[in-house]
Order: sequence, then structure tokens, then C-alpha cells
Amino acid sequence: MNINRQYATLDEFTIKQYRSIPNATGELSALLRDIGLAAKRINVEVNKAGLVDILGDAGSVNVQGEEVKKLDIFSNTQLIGVLKHGISCAGIASEEMDDIVVFNDEISNNSKYVVMFDPLDGSANIDTNTSIGTIFGVYRRVTSPGTPCGTRDFLQAGSRQVAAGYIIYGSSTILVYATRRGVNGFTLDPSIGEFCLSHPDIKVPEDGKIYSVNHANFFLLSRGMQEYITNCQHKNETNGGPYTNRYIGSMVADVHRTLIKGGIFIYPGTTQKPAGKLRLMYECNPCAFIMEVAGGKSSNGSMRILDIQPAKLHERTPFITGSKNMVQECLDYCNTTP
Ligand code: AHG
Ligand code: MN
Ligand code: MN
Ligand code: MN
Repeated sequence: MNINRQYATLDEFTIKQYRSIPNATGELSALLRDIGLAAKRINVEVNKAGLVDILGDAGSVNVQGEEVKKLDIFSNTQLIGVLKHGISCAGIASEEMDDIVVFNDEISNNSKYVVMFDPLDGSANIDTNTSIGTIFGVYRRVTSPGTPCGTRDFLQAGSRQVAAGYIIYGSSTILVYATRRGVNGFTLDPSIGEFCLSHPDIKVPEDGKIYSVNHANFFLLSRGMQEYITNCQHKNETNGGPYTNRYIGSMVADVHRTLIKGGIFIYPGTTQKPAGKLRLMYECNPCAFIMEVAGGKSSNGSMRILDIQPAKLHERTPFITGSKNMVQECLDYCNTTP
């Protein structure tokens, strides 16, 4: 099969972008290359996971109370490694680390950015060969250059992200990232080991016909949310229903489908867990940023996800994201019915 070699690689693309910005230093482009490198290493391990002793539990529980998988730890280590050795990142926060990690060496202390990531999203799916991914959000630090970064650099609202992205290890491996200028997708060409631009300037359709939610929680949801979901299952004069339901259980894969095809992804709060399950800082904020740049909408049910001022690193939030009109309709249901 011929692969079109005129597609820009991730590196070529990001370098071209920063050259057109006055005073840009290229640190962001270097940072994206570093993350791309970690993604390639994670991809190799995910691909051969069944052959080597890397499936299964690591035998520990993370700060969220979840069983940690060996691949969670591997992915976390790879990301920390590339970002620590790179020139752009002063420190990181991760789903798998209780606290922030401050790199605190001369180059890192002079770096512009901090990064928050979910090293492996959907890790409960690893052992069954389902798509999983990595999610990241990049913030310009607010502490002074030349000093170690600190908690303040991480507890910023999602609207302050400089870039955000994810990588999906699926039927192909794709890296999608957004800056305020747009959202672009790069598919890994395994023959040359490079991410190549395959999905330029992604825009999410304003409407969609796919809703994505864990139905097992239905009877734990608010009445408004139950009514919205029920509406998705029925045809009425205006909605063109019934819609299709898709729920992979790896948010990154569910959000990617929503971004490309249009639709809505919902992980609501439940009566037992009012804040839901997903983590604001390294799951919802990056996805909300990407979705908004692509023309979509994200909310926690009462406010824009990107406006939430975080109080703690691992805080959770209900999450509704996707096509603008579908998200608005869902919010209308939730806000008119208690
Ligand atoms: P992680 O694997 O990073 O801990 O994230 C798991 C999350 C997310 O990927 C997914 O959308 C959600 O858990 C699925 O939860 P349910 O099994 O409750 O539907
Ligand atoms: Mn987890
Ligand atoms: Mn996750
Ligand atoms: Mn994870």
C-alpha cells in the first residue's frame, strides 16, 4: 500500500507552526516531540503486551483507590523520562502519582511548561485488547523561571492550557493535539516510526446521532439526565432518533469517536458519587480543550469544564462533552428537570 509521503511529520508540522509565531522559542514543539517519543515506546509495549509479562495488575493501588496495571506504571515512567530529559518541562502531575513531581534541575527550572497526564486511560481494558490511550494537558507555569515549579503551576483552570492532546493505541495509533490555533491528528506510520499528519484541522460536527454513557448507572442518575438518555432512545418530531449508543469504557476512545463523528459523551455524577468518576485535571480538561477548539462544548452540568478552578490535583467532575447542539440539549434537560 502506498503511504502519501507528502504528509508532514509531527515534528515538521509543529516547527512550521512555531516559526509563524513571533518570539516563540520552540519549547512547545520540543515538548510535543518528547510526548510523541514516549507514545511510540508505550505503543510498542501495548502491541506486544500479550507476549511479554506486562499484562495484569502491578499489585498496587493508586491514590484514586484503583488497581494499578503494569502498563499504567510503564507508561507513567516513559512519560516522566522523556519530559525530565527534555528542555521544555519543569514538572509533571500524573494520575498514578499522589503528588506533583518537580524536576528541579537547571534546565527544567528554566523551562516554560508543566504537563499533567493520564499515562494510560482505559487501563481496565488492557487485558482484553480494547483501545486505550494517553491524555495530556500543557500549562505555562506561573512561578518564576529559574525556580523549581510548584503546586500553583498545576492548579490552573483548564482554559489556561496552552496545548492538550491524546494518543490512542487502537486499530492504528493516532496522536491528536490542540492549541488555540486548531486540532490536528497524526497517525503513526509504523514503517518509518513517525506520526504523520492524517487529520488536519479537525472540527466536531455540530449535531450527532451517537450517545455514549455507561447505562449500568442509569438508575443512579438525576431525573433530567435519565430523561435526556431516554430521549436519545426514542424518536420524536425533532430529534431524528433513536440514536445509536456506543460505550467503549476508555474515555479517550469514546471522546475520539465523538470528535470525529459527532455525538455526545457523558460521565455524569451519580447519587453515590456526585462528582462522577473522571478526573478534572488530566482527563476532562484536555478533552474539553480539544473539543472546544474543534467547535464543540463541554460542561459539568452547570458550568464550562474549562472554567472550573481546581482545588486539588486528583479532583473528579461530572463530564458532558461533544457536539455543541447535543451537549446543549442535554444541559437543557438537566436544567429544567431536577
Ligand atoms: P483510567 O483507566 O485512566 O483509570 O480511566 C478509566 C476511566 C475512563 O477511561 C472511562 O471512561 C471510565 O473509567 C469508565 O468507567 P466505567 O467503567 O465506570 O464506565
Ligand atoms: Mn486508573
Ligand atoms: Mn483515565
Ligand atoms: Mn489512567
